Amino acid sequence: MLVLSKRIQFSAAHRLHNPALSEDENRRLFGECNHPHGHGHNYEVEVMVEGRPDPVTGMVMNLRTLREILEREVLARTHYKSLDEAGGLLDGRLSTTENLAIAIWDAVRPHVQPARLHLVRVKESENNVVEYTGPELA
Ligand code: NI
Repeated sequence: MLVLSKRIQFSAAHRLHNPALSEDENRRLFGECNHPHGHGHNYEVEVMVEGRPDPVTGMVMNLRTLREILEREVLARTHYKSLDEAGGLLDGRLSTTENLAIAIWDAVRPHVQPARLHLVRVKESENNVVEYTGPELA
């Protein structure tokens, strides 16, 4: 099996705040990330796809196509936006790096066939990275 990867960067604002919890609980749980006016990150996303090379093209997937998918499905919905916007990529889910990785996986997965998604890595900062390998199969 071969694994290809493509990286993209985007800048987005967010605020970690769960309306089901009190102001105090939110502050305790999310600390600075709960700041009322939000804050931003320069996110780096790496998406890996796996598969076999096509006998005609020799490619698992055209990386230009993967780039276009990421531009349409991820960048257009995140770059210079708030991740907490209703109807955005996260659509109301708490904008943790974990949820962002899952949302990117779900948005990209249907478009990479016949390749399959292998891994989505989201780097929120130099020291904070989340990797998602897809839902666990029962
Ligand atoms: Ni943050």
